[in-house]
Amino acid sequence: MTSIPATGAPADAILAALRDRKQGDRDWRHGRLAVYFYWLDEELERVQQQAYLTYWTENNLGQRAFPSLKSLEDEVIAMALSLLGGGARAGGTFTSGGSESIFLAMMAARNRARAQRGVTRPNIVLPNSAHLTFDRAAEALGMEIRRVPVGTDLRADVPAMAARMDGDTVVLVGSAPNYPFGTFDPITEIAALAAQYGAWMHVDACVGGFLAPYVRRLGHDIPAFELSVPGVTSMSADIHKHGMAPKGASLLLVADAADREWHKFDSRAWQRGPYSAYTTQGTRPGGAVAAAWAAMNHLGDEGYLRCARLIMEAKAIMTAGIAAIPGLDVLQPSDLGIFVWRATDPALDIGKVAAALDAEGWLVGRQQEPDGIHLHLNPIHRDYAAEYVESVSRAVAAARGGQNSRIGANERTY
Ligand SMILES: Cc1ncc(COP(=O)(O)O)c(C=O)c1O
Repeated sequence: MTSIPATGAPADAILAALRDRKQGDRDWRHGRLAVYFYWLDEELERVQQQAYLTYWTENNLGQRAFPSLKSLEDEVIAMALSLLGGGARAGGTFTSGGSESIFLAMMAARNRARAQRGVTRPNIVLPNSAHLTFDRAAEALGMEIRRVPVGTDLRADVPAMAARMDGDTVVLVGSAPNYPFGTFDPITEIAALAAQYGAWMHVDACVGGFLAPYVRRLGHDIPAFELSVPGVTSMSADIHKHGMAPKGASLLLVADAADREWHKFDSRAWQRGPYSAYTTQGTRPGGAVAAAWAAMNHLGDEGYLRCARLIMEAKAIMTAGIAAIPGLDVLQPSDLGIFVWRATDPALDIGKVAAALDAEGWLVGRQQEPDGIHLHLNPIHRDYAAEYVESVSRAVAAARGGQNSRIGANERTY
């Protein structure tokens, strides 16, 4: 059993041990992963790291002690609100990640409906492409989840969602875009439906929040999904995804700052006096806020546009290359840098293709429905897009030729 060593090791030995430990990890710096990371260049990395270190040990729970952290957090929220359609009444909360932002939104919707409508058995109606973190939140919050199949266009089927609503529906959800397909749900229609029933409407822009506005500026067709859409109550937008900040940075934005009160904890039921928080966390890393602020100010609109351009160029190279390989197709539509490709030739086993790609060092994300391969691109993929297509071509040849006979037909590589 591992236990804390009786005597500590010197700093250099500890740091060398960590470097050694990483040797077998996947090579994200060379675009071998299309999941888990977001990376532009070494300059941004340096800014992130130095900013984090500047607030290395400060606790963002203690804004009385560290007013500078409050000013950084307020500016991050204000910058995001100006990007994402926040009006004069809008507000926001800095959280640890998309899951926490979504948890707080569901909690707020539940609490508001309980107080204002007397709902005691609340349900959430959402397209079945919405992230599973909604189910996790619902489980913890005592809410029922009603997943509604998406249409053939891979977008939320709004009439089908309406059919699943009842007097206990407290929140409707739409993604901008969803993770399985990278498609935008019709936010305007879902929000109008929510408004009609007095329900909370949450837009999950964890992926799209800091990318979609810039992809739109490049001339791509991106539907309205912002806080300014009538009927939208809240939005999750992750700075640690396409906001290009290090992990531990997301926002829950609300069209009306008063709605933040529904996810506030406030009590003095102990000896120590009052304690209150808008997040599920108590102690919060000051470094995460400082690094998010630094990334946003270092990149600016210009930097985010560059990221958007690189991602969309990588996607164009990959989708054209894959579509040109006989027996494969790319699922359509897909709106940003997430897409799925699969085998259309029944004789081609996508499991074998995935395994051959894995053997070339690419970490393969398997899509369950339809059986295929999922990619979520970030700027670094622009440099490796052509190489990826060549690998796919080789992997297909290997799968057809049975050159990977050691790989079972049903093997999954996640
Ligand atoms: C659309 C969407 N929503 C929510 C989440 C959850 O975010 P996090 O992993 O930061 O908790 C993700 C993560 O990939 C996502 O893609």
